[in-house]
Amino acid sequence: MELKCFDDISELDRYAAQIFADTLKTKPNATLGLATGSTPIGIYGKMIEMYNNGEVSFKDATTFNLDEYVGLSPEHEQSYAHFMKQHLFDHIDLPRRQSHLPSGMVSDLQAECSHYDRMLTEQPIDVQLLGLGHNGHIGFNEPDDELQGGTHIVELEEATRTANARFFDSITEVPTKAITMGVGSILKADSIVLVVKGADKAGIVKKALRGPITTECPASLLQTHKKVVVLVDREAGRLL
Ligand code: GLP
Repeated sequence: MELKCFDDISELDRYAAQIFADTLKTKPNATLGLATGSTPIGIYGKMIEMYNNGEVSFKDATTFNLDEYVGLSPEHEQSYAHFMKQHLFDHIDLPRRQSHLPSGMVSDLQAECSHYDRMLTEQPIDVQLLGLGHNGHIGFNEPDDELQGGTHIVELEEATRTANARFFDSITEVPTKAITMGVGSILKADSIVLVVKGADKAGIVKKALRGPITTECPASLLQTHKKVVVLVDREAGRLL
């Protein structure tokens, strides 16, 4: 694992965006794995800047998002589909048909999981962006006795719902389930960029990077991957 610590968040965001831009320069039809949450917002801002400056084009890229809430339509303000439009897709030249998020609205969620996995097998991810949950989750792979390899439905932990309640009017509105790529699919990405920001993540990022490899901290499985770049700000990295 390569670890880089930044004093300046804007530099961190630029560095992460540059990894994706460089991937697209060498392979214009690359498959990018994308994430939601507050962590990547600045990174997407830098990608948009790079696109506006003519430094990068997404027109031949394909993207796969990690996860989506079950029961929220793409038009819902807190759906991850809406998040991606708002923070990235509406501002770049990525054709809409080349961007994929799992759907949490279909009646047959199992079929949706299999369909998403089939697409991921056909277009393997070149570089995957990841944030980190306070409990060590990646995507929505919550700590458990065992983890799933492929796309699946998860019950969200109370702590995760509470953490994400800040985006909703009240916690009762936060969905209880999500559809997420599995840890196996995440680890199949050619390279992974894990981004962690803020003092409240200092303990969990230490556990993920330096602790034992355990399903109780899903991000610790990243220690087994051959090419992970971890980008942290000063506060998140203070225990490393
Ligand atoms: C959410 C997402 C994760 C994200 C995590 C951290 O639950 N499913 O992909 O990494 O929370 O979010 P934030 O970046 O807002 O701390």
